[in-house]
Amino acid sequence: MSDMFSTPDMGHLGSSDYNHVYEPAEDSFLFLDALEQEHDFLAKLRPTVCLEIGSGSGVCITFLARMLGSSSAYMSTDINVRAACITRDTACRNSVMVEPVVTDLVGSKGIEASWAGGVRGREVVDRLFPLIPSILSPDGVFYLVIIKENDQDEIEDIMKKNGFQMVVVKSRQSGPEFLSVLKFSWLPSVT
Ligand SMILES: C[S@@+](CC[C@H](N)C(=O)[O-])C[C@H]1O[C@@H](n2cnc3c(N)ncnc32)[C@H](O)[C@@H]1O
Repeated sequence: MSDMFSTPDMGHLGSSDYNHVYEPAEDSFLFLDALEQEHDFLAKLRPTVCLEIGSGSGVCITFLARMLGSSSAYMSTDINVRAACITRDTACRNSVMVEPVVTDLVGSKGIEASWAGGVRGREVVDRLFPLIPSILSPDGVFYLVIIKENDQDEIEDIMKKNGFQMVVVKSRQSGPEFLSVLKFSWLPSVT
């Protein structure tokens, strides 16, 4: 879990909420740690818009909003209506503003940073990859949380063909899962 910036207060949510939305877990906490590690880079980048794709409880986008402050606008998407409502509540509870949108993957333009995770296979993220070039600003970055089975090398190849270079920001073994946070930025030859 994060040290320098505190994990958002999730005290407004109970077990009945987590019957309907994803409860923050090791993948969420690894992403918070990765965002904290990226603090200096992101603070310098000063993104106009930060978007989380698949916000669930809203713990990650709320953490980012608290970390970077009000110079950026924060949006989130989720296909689950309850996740959108809870994301809004989590932001309010932690005194930041996040605009949740109920949609499949992305529904807006001008995105600087985003998240998407694949619990099983890559059905969702494989649909997302071709959309990234049209939504990411020239200096924007895209973060992705994966498990080993998602095949990091293949993802790197796919994204390279789309014009992006990849670095691994953070990795961690969590029980049977090996989790990584990947970061994509435009290849210099493309921008
Ligand atoms: C593993 S949860 C992660 C939630 C949160 N980011 C976290 O780290 O705690 C994935 C979320 O993605 C959402 N999701 C799944 N498919 C989606 C899609 N096609 N478009 C938008 N959201 C999606 C799910 O409803 C779920 O809330």
